[in-house]
Amino acid sequence: MTQSVNNEKEIVLSGIRATGNLHIGNYFGALGKFVRMQEDPNYENLFFIADLHALTTAPDPEALHANVRNIVVEYLAAGIDPEKSTIFVQSDVPEVSELYLLLNMHVGIGELMRTASFKDKARKALGIHSDSDDIEREIIGNESNKRVNAGLLTYPTLMAVDILIQKARKVPVGKDQEQHLELTRRFARRFNSFYGVDLFPEPYNFDFGGKPVKVPGLDGSGKMGKSEGNCIYLIDDEKTLRKKVMRAVTDQGPTEPNSEPTQPIANLFSLLELASTPEVVEHFRNAYADCSIRYGDLKKQLADDLVALTTPIRERIEAISADDAYIARVLRQGAEKARERAARTLAEAREIMGIRKFY
Ligand code: ADP
Ligand code: TRP
Repeated sequence: MTQSVNNEKEIVLSGIRATGNLHIGNYFGALGKFVRMQEDPNYENLFFIADLHALTTAPDPEALHANVRNIVVEYLAAGIDPEKSTIFVQSDVPEVSELYLLLNMHVGIGELMRTASFKDKARKALGIHSDSDDIEREIIGNESNKRVNAGLLTYPTLMAVDILIQKARKVPVGKDQEQHLELTRRFARRFNSFYGVDLFPEPYNFDFGGKPVKVPGLDGSGKMGKSEGNCIYLIDDEKTLRKKVMRAVTDQGPTEPNSEPTQPIANLFSLLELASTPEVVEHFRNAYADCSIRYGDLKKQLADDLVALTTPIRERIEAISADDAYIARVLRQGAEKARERAARTLAEAREIMGIRKFY
């Protein structure tokens, strides 16, 4: 019988795909939480760069390597401390790829095809703009030479394995990742109950008691994201950052006291809540309520607070990026640590599934 839940520290794990530079959506949704969690002695933290996941949508060899490096540097610059947290590259832990194959035997293609992120990305790959729910027919019946790769379909299996192989219970991620976590819990339960074991604990998102964050875009849209082209990047210099904030979409201003803000204004308030103090937010909310608000003032305040947040990070990015030896040392040490528990979990899973040696 396998031993599972132990009384060691609770394991925290999260990762970000290596698809470009990090933006403040990544920071408030994920990275900033990583930094806070490593200060809590109750947790053992692992943070990784999901390079295999990046291959599902962006298989460009040179860009991939550069992007992995960027994210490591940005992790370190944002304050992830390799003495306190394990920082590693997903593909440096080959045990993940093997368990991914094994776990896939317990995952249904139907449930994968129904995942929201799969449908979105599949539609993008096929150039389909409709919202039709008949994605199976769209994919199977597609007669063009465009295709949806199987890696995209099994993305949630790979993500589940990242988490389960480390037996992590807390996974700090943005709101958009919650469906993947739900699937991870389902796969863990299914494996445990199919084999009558208690191998995988069920992981949950973690937000310091608050609600999961969704950072909006500056273009009035619902979400800041790389592919949306509406991001403030951690590497943006002060001038670029201020320009982006000052250009953010607004409206004509409130005409009646205590009215509901329109979407673009609600977005600005959401950003202000993340970047500024409660007093500042209160001040502008009151100004909005009594119609005295000037959006230019709000934007200037928001830009000031974002500059204060990102400037030290940007300066550290420059310094760390110049130090290849340091980056190599961090990743070698991280890979070794991450492989320890991964190898143990994989051995347990193989044994449970009946993959046993004859020699
Ligand atoms: P992107 O959407 O820009 O491609 P990723 O999918 O690589 O970013 O996300 C990496 C992490 O950052 C995830 O934990 C995700 O939830 C978080 N994240 C990304 N965009 C946002 C956002 N706009 N608001 C909150 N969290 C976000
Ligand atoms: N799917 C996540 C994203 O797009 C990245 C990711 C891969 C991840 N594996 C993970 C996040 C494991 C947390 C835990 O952002």
